[in-house]
Amino acid sequence: MNYLAPSVLSADFSILGQEIETVVRAGARMVHLDVMDGSFVPNISFGAPVISSVRKNTDALFDVHLMIDEPARYLEDFHRAGADLITVHYEACADAGDTLMKVRELGIRAGLAISPDTPVEVLEPYMELVDLILVMSVYPGFGGQQFIEDSLTRVKVVKEMAQTCGRDDLWIEVDGGIGPDNIVSVMKAGANVLVAGSAVFRGDSGENVRRLMTLLEEQG
Ligand code: DX5
Ligand code: ZN
Repeated sequence: MNYLAPSVLSADFSILGQEIETVVRAGARMVHLDVMDGSFVPNISFGAPVISSVRKNTDALFDVHLMIDEPARYLEDFHRAGADLITVHYEACADAGDTLMKVRELGIRAGLAISPDTPVEVLEPYMELVDLILVMSVYPGFGGQQFIEDSLTRVKVVKEMAQTCGRDDLWIEVDGGIGPDNIVSVMKAGANVLVAGSAVFRGDSGENVRRLMTLLEEQG
């Protein structure tokens, strides 16, 4: 199944609950929540209390992308706030394997993200510990950046790695610079979770979700 995961980073935070309701009503089954600490990335967004508040508005899958140093410190907080899936960055963990196991011990899905300059080969030791690999297609920290084209090759390599390990069930997520012009090529490279922030929340978010989902369904 392909998922469109609207990233609320580009939403209007003063009406965040409504913004989420709108994209879910338009058909999005997953919501992408970008947590930034001003240290791992040069920007600060929001934390567990905000996620906990908007959790009341929807049953959609909450895909929490932690762009924070040493995320192991906060896994329980985000689980309690309502995360269904927690993704941590390889570059931010002292022990990524241990962190992923801790996420799974909470009974939720575990994801491992790599930034654009991190070689995909670093993922190999973790293939049995993850439910999702997130290939960043921009440098993490800000919405509205341009898609890095080389990411398509990286996604293909991750897909091949998953197949080699017998992990056909692995979700492959791509995040950054995705919109109507490239969403189909990202999916065809092997991704099944497509994050879109500015392409959803700039303009009519319901209409944008319907358009992007139609592209995924027509070509999928
Ligand atoms: C970037 C975030 C992304 C971002 C995507 O660090 O992880 O989720 O919000 O925004 P767009 O789709 O505008 O690139
Ligand atoms: Zn993200």
